[in-house]
Amino acid sequence: MQMKKATLHVNKHFKIGDVDDRIYGSFIEHLGRAVYEGIYQPESPFADEQGFRKDVIDLVKQLNVPVVRYPGGNFVSGYRWEDTVGPKEKRPETVDLAWQVIESNQFGLNEFVDWTKKSKTETMMAVNLGTRGIEAAKNVLEYCNLKGGSYYSNLRREHGWEQPHDIKLWCLGNEMDGPWQEGHKTAYEYGRLAAETGRAMKMMDPTIETVACGSSSLQMPTFGEWEDTVLMECYDQVDYLSLHQYYGNRDNDSAGFLANTVAMDQFISQVISICDAVKAKKRGKKDIHLSFDEWNVWYHSNEQDKQIERWTQHPHQLEDVYNFEDALLVAGMMITMLRHADRIKIACLAQLVNVIAPIMTSDTGAWKQTIYYPFELISNLGRGTVLQTEIDVPFYESVHGDAPYLDSVAIMNEEQETVTIFAVNKDLNDQMELAVDLRQFEGYHVDKHVVLTHSDLKAENTEAQPNNVVPKANGNASIDGGRLGAVLPSQSFNVITIKK
Ligand code: AHR
Repeated sequence: MQMKKATLHVNKHFKIGDVDDRIYGSFIEHLGRAVYEGIYQPESPFADEQGFRKDVIDLVKQLNVPVVRYPGGNFVSGYRWEDTVGPKEKRPETVDLAWQVIESNQFGLNEFVDWTKKSKTETMMAVNLGTRGIEAAKNVLEYCNLKGGSYYSNLRREHGWEQPHDIKLWCLGNEMDGPWQEGHKTAYEYGRLAAETGRAMKMMDPTIETVACGSSSLQMPTFGEWEDTVLMECYDQVDYLSLHQYYGNRDNDSAGFLANTVAMDQFISQVISICDAVKAKKRGKKDIHLSFDEWNVWYHSNEQDKQIERWTQHPHQLEDVYNFEDALLVAGMMITMLRHADRIKIACLAQLVNVIAPIMTSDTGAWKQTIYYPFELISNLGRGTVLQTEIDVPFYESVHGDAPYLDSVAIMNEEQETVTIFAVNKDLNDQMELAVDLRQFEGYHVDKHVVLTHSDLKAENTEAQPNNVVPKANGNASIDGGRLGAVLPSQSFNVITIKK
């Protein structure tokens, strides 16, 4: 049988848009062992003087994550930020209804901001629009961003943080369309609250940017109507609309699972259409951009989580052990988002440590799950301008309709004089021949062709075997007369960088 062929048509003058680095964001929620035993474990031999795990900080830094969303997630809809600041011995133990656990509050808002500084990232803060509203949102912003001279800004200084945190990005609640959410609302109720909260917050600090909640997934029965109604209410007060989406391979249909990028692409395009329709109806001047602030694979831990005893502290929760096919889909999801770089300005891999995460910890160490690698490679090499590529490639039938065998994107970095192609060969049986006409990039050569592949789609990395699935710089891409050729192994993620 003949090898399948993919041809990428690249033109350096046809650009989708510059990559906003915040598309490589992530997420830490007070959930499971993300905070406690994840980023914070004072009794650990790996802890620094503030109790932060240094081994985890090192792994986070390698991921090059510009923003981390905090403190939730569902947790934020019952969040009382005041309980998390001030002397630790005075902080109350509180009930978290979202995850049915007890929160010790020994790690709070100020500790998180300090942790982000050590991890070379920034805070994307969420306010509680579930059980609370404008007043609490205004107060936490005053505590964080005002220099001093007011009750809450002085309180921060008394607590030992003299300088304001200066947090720029604020999420107005979380998944307010979900009936599982504390303080769940109709689209109109939420849209009004988001508008008034955003207004008050921008009166307090006009330099901030706000994110309104879109749908919790494409499958929500209110999808579409929700976005339209919410934005009609709060268009003037918000800068971004959120999208959330998790995928799973529950039916063990790997080809169908990898085809989820088709569904994700549709989701993004549909949300953009609604944002633009609202702009038109409002005779608006600004575009509403997208914040894909929760995305990942999440299903492996669903069954075991049903056994968790309620009202304990930081149990093992949502601890998905990722396999190789999950890494392929994560790469495909990132490629899909990058192909919408003109509108997706923020995205958060949910989450970062221990909870549906690329990084896992135990008392004896920290290790990289399979999904760590596509994120690390794309985050570090995918900065620049996304080119508008046309792709000729065969399709296969899937539960999501026709799916291309190849997911790919090309990113040009003019400063560094590089072009990087990210490509997932979703063919589970055959390798694929890739051809790219790069004659416009005269004098460029192949710098590296990194491949992430494995013969077993279900292969995992564990603490005992952390290097089972790792990328290797052993691809065969080459350029001849300005034409790039490469063989992409079956079921593989490829990173090809060409350089002057
Ligand atoms: O990331 C896990 C959970 O998924 C978040 O708390 C919630 O926002 C979403 O449903």
